[in-house]
Amino acid sequence: QNLEIMTATHHKTKPDPETLEFGKTFTDHMFIMDYSIDHGWHSPRIIPYQPLTLDPAAMIYHYGQTVFEGLKAYRTDDERILLFRPDQNFKRLNRSSDRLSIPDIDPELVIEYLSELLKLDKEWIPTYEGTSLYIRPFIIATEPNLSVAPSATYKFMIILSPVGSYYKEGIAPVGIYVEDEYTRAALGGTGTAKTAGNYSAAYKAQDKATAHGQAQVLWLDSSEKKYIEEVGSMNVFFKIDGEIITPALSGSILEGVTRKSIIELLNSWDMPVSERKLSIDEVLLAIEENRLEEAFGTGTAAVISPIGELSWKGKQSLINNRETGPLATKLYETLTGIQKGKQPDPFNWTHEV
Ligand code: COI
Repeated sequence: QNLEIMTATHHKTKPDPETLEFGKTFTDHMFIMDYSIDHGWHSPRIIPYQPLTLDPAAMIYHYGQTVFEGLKAYRTDDERILLFRPDQNFKRLNRSSDRLSIPDIDPELVIEYLSELLKLDKEWIPTYEGTSLYIRPFIIATEPNLSVAPSATYKFMIILSPVGSYYKEGIAPVGIYVEDEYTRAALGGTGTAKTAGNYSAAYKAQDKATAHGQAQVLWLDSSEKKYIEEVGSMNVFFKIDGEIITPALSGSILEGVTRKSIIELLNSWDMPVSERKLSIDEVLLAIEENRLEEAFGTGTAAVISPIGELSWKGKQSLINNRETGPLATKLYETLTGIQKGKQPDPFNWTHEV
């Protein structure tokens, strides 16, 4: 299908790259296409960034039938545009869509559409240290219908946002609060899908973490409240006695692209990662016996976010003296180096637009 391109006549002022926040400003254009049962995905188009008009009965508003993705583009010194493993994101979008009964998209075709959008808004890709262009693809159910059933129509969209660090702390260590009341996701639920409700259902726990003076929530499994699952909206890694551990994909943990890349990177450094169950008790004991070397969250938005403190049942413990550890530092530098085209890319992870 032919991509239609309508360019903006008015260009917005670009934000100051030195004071960029996360996800607050958007570029001049957006991508949109529609789905109907008769025509499948159709009418792909790039249009000036603009508000949507939807019927108030559109199903997205009522039953939350929606999925999203997050990935980043970087602009190199020689003006190339690089994406990081975009195939992984669009395959995961289809897995999320399957869980939410949303029709799938063609990852290769969508990467082509995204590439055209990026070329058009190239000047919006910031190059200042620590910045990038965050890409947010998403799908919403648009049929006006209050029946509790999958929508017959959808919109797929991509919007672009120049961003700085996800956390105001940057790559400085954050404190975490072990949540023992709310859960992020349960077995058989939607935890492995990138869908809106997983995120909004976490706000109450985040409020508790904040009230306890900590930046993020450490999530435990829903049935036993015993095993570690994720931290905030990220996957999590621990280094205990030289063993690098990340919770095994349990059926309620999001399959992070950064998580997967870190495991592959560490394997290539002969530092295998144990993907296994890790209980909060094992972590607390390791802290007590001074065997917990490092802990960090991993995700597209923050890349690596070191954990410097853990709060559990009213007791605070420091991790690695609240410093960023050598493993987190090396992983951050290698990953962002590959993403920005500043380091060799032995795995062919970067995709040039
Ligand atoms: C990530 O990229 O780590 C996230 O999941 C955060 C995003 C939802 C803003």
